[in-house]
Amino acid sequence: MTRRRVVVLLVMAGMMLAGCGGNRQSPKILGGNGSESHRVSGLWWLIFGLAAFVYLVVGGFIVLAAVRGRGTPAGRRSRITDHGFIWVGGIIAPLAILMTVAAFTVNTTSALRKPSSRELRINVVGKRWWWAVEYPTLRVTTANEIHVPAGQPLEFRIDSDNVIHSFWVPQLAGKMDAIPGQHNYLRFTATKPGTYRGLCAEYCGTQHAWMEFLVVVQTPGDFGRWATREQTLSNQSPSNEQQARGQVVFESSACAGCHRIRGTQAQADLGPDLTDVGQRTTLGSVRIPNTTGNLAGWIGNSQTLKPGNLMPPQYLSASDLQAVVAYLQSLK
Ligand code: CUA
Repeated sequence: MTRRRVVVLLVMAGMMLAGCGGNRQSPKILGGNGSESHRVSGLWWLIFGLAAFVYLVVGGFIVLAAVRGRGTPAGRRSRITDHGFIWVGGIIAPLAILMTVAAFTVNTTSALRKPSSRELRINVVGKRWWWAVEYPTLRVTTANEIHVPAGQPLEFRIDSDNVIHSFWVPQLAGKMDAIPGQHNYLRFTATKPGTYRGLCAEYCGTQHAWMEFLVVVQTPGDFGRWATREQTLSNQSPSNEQQARGQVVFESSACAGCHRIRGTQAQADLGPDLTDVGQRTTLGSVRIPNTTGNLAGWIGNSQTLKPGNLMPPQYLSASDLQAVVAYLQSLK
C-alpha cells in the first residue's frame, strides 16, 4: 500500500469515528447508575482483564521467540515440548478462561432477570421513531420521557409495532431488543436521581439516529408527585380563551386523527399521547427542546427536523397555530 493510500484511509476512518459522536455527548457505557449497568460493567472488566492477560502472555511468547537463541547458529532448543504447549496453551488454559467467563456471565444474567415483588412495571413500545410509554399499574401514559423512582426495582416490558428497535440507556442498563410480536423484559434499579439519555441501538430506518428518549430518575417522593399529577391531567380544562380555542382546533383538525389527550375527544393512538406534552422537556423523541417556537415549528412542518416521520405538515392559520401551542403547553 502506498503512503498516500494509508493517509487517505486514516483520514476516512477518523471522519467515520467522528461522525459517531456528532455534537451530542455520548453517554458513558461503563460504571453507570443502575443495578444492571453496575453488574454488566463488572463482567466487562473481568473479560477485559482476562483478554489483556492472554494478549500479554502471547505477545511475550512472540517477543521471546524472536529474541531467544539469537547469535547461536542453530537457535536454542525449547525446554517445553510441542505437546506440552498444545495441551496447556491450546486446551487447558483456554478452557479455564472460557469456563470462568461463562460462569460469571450466567451468574450475572440470572441475577439481572430475577423479578422482584415490589417492582414498578413500565410498558415501552418502539414506534417510528419514538417510544410509547405506559405505566399499567398507575394508569399513566406518556412518550419519550420516562420518569422512574430511584431505588425501586423496575420492570420494562419492551415491544415494537413495526420493525426491530433496541432500548438502551447505557448508564443504567444493557440493551434490550424491541421485537414485533414478542415481549422482552428488562429489569434494573436506578440508583441515582438524574436525567439519563437513552437511544435506539438497532438500525430501524431513516430516523434511527433520532430515536432517543430520556429516563428521568427521581426521588420516590418526587416520582409520587409526578405520577399523581399525571393521573389528574385528564380532569383538567383550559384556563383561558386562547387555550380553549386551541383545544377546539386540536379536536377538530387532523391532530385528533393521530394523537390522544385523555379527557378530550382526541383519542387516537398513531402518534404520541399528548396528555402531558406541556411537562416534557423535548419534542420529536429528544430531537429539539420543547419551547414555544420549536413546538409551533414542529406542528407546522416536523419533516424539516425529522424527515420521514409519520406526522404530515399541518396547515393552520397563525392564530389557530398559536392557540394550539398555548393549549398544548398548558397540558402539564
Ligand atoms: Cu429504532 Cu433504531
